[in-house]
Amino acid sequence: LESPQDTNVKLLKICQLLDKEISYYNWTGFYFKNGDKDELVLGPYVGAVTDHVIIPFGKGICGQVAESGETFVVPDVHAQDNYLSCSIDTKAEIVVPIFKNGENIGQIDIDSHTIDPFTKEDEEMLNWLCEEVAKIL
Ligand code: SME
Repeated sequence: LESPQDTNVKLLKICQLLDKEISYYNWTGFYFKNGDKDELVLGPYVGAVTDHVIIPFGKGICGQVAESGETFVVPDVHAQDNYLSCSIDTKAEIVVPIFKNGENIGQIDIDSHTIDPFTKEDEEMLNWLCEEVAKIL
């Protein structure tokens, strides 16, 4: 297993790559379960500074994915009741869970300034990416 520092450098590089290569990815970051607590803590990310460093399970799109363990595609964030706004520019969001040994340990979260931008290809690519990420955690 790698040191947490090495892992965080890799996770940041993944965020930077996605941010650079995919025009409609406008905030890209990782959240992880915070120890034994029923909350998420923000990990490496690229994009605007966010107030949502800690997210209780069940709160917002991220908190819901922490509980459901299922990818959540939000074509229009304004249509969501249980949503935590990070930026007024955000119009859409996708959150994909990360499983390690069958346990939902975190997620990748991507915000877009474009409405309804995420396709099945995004879902499949991010699913694959989360499986790869799980291997270095
Ligand atoms: N919008 C998320 C909160 C995290 S920010 O997008 C970075 C949510 O509703 O859970």
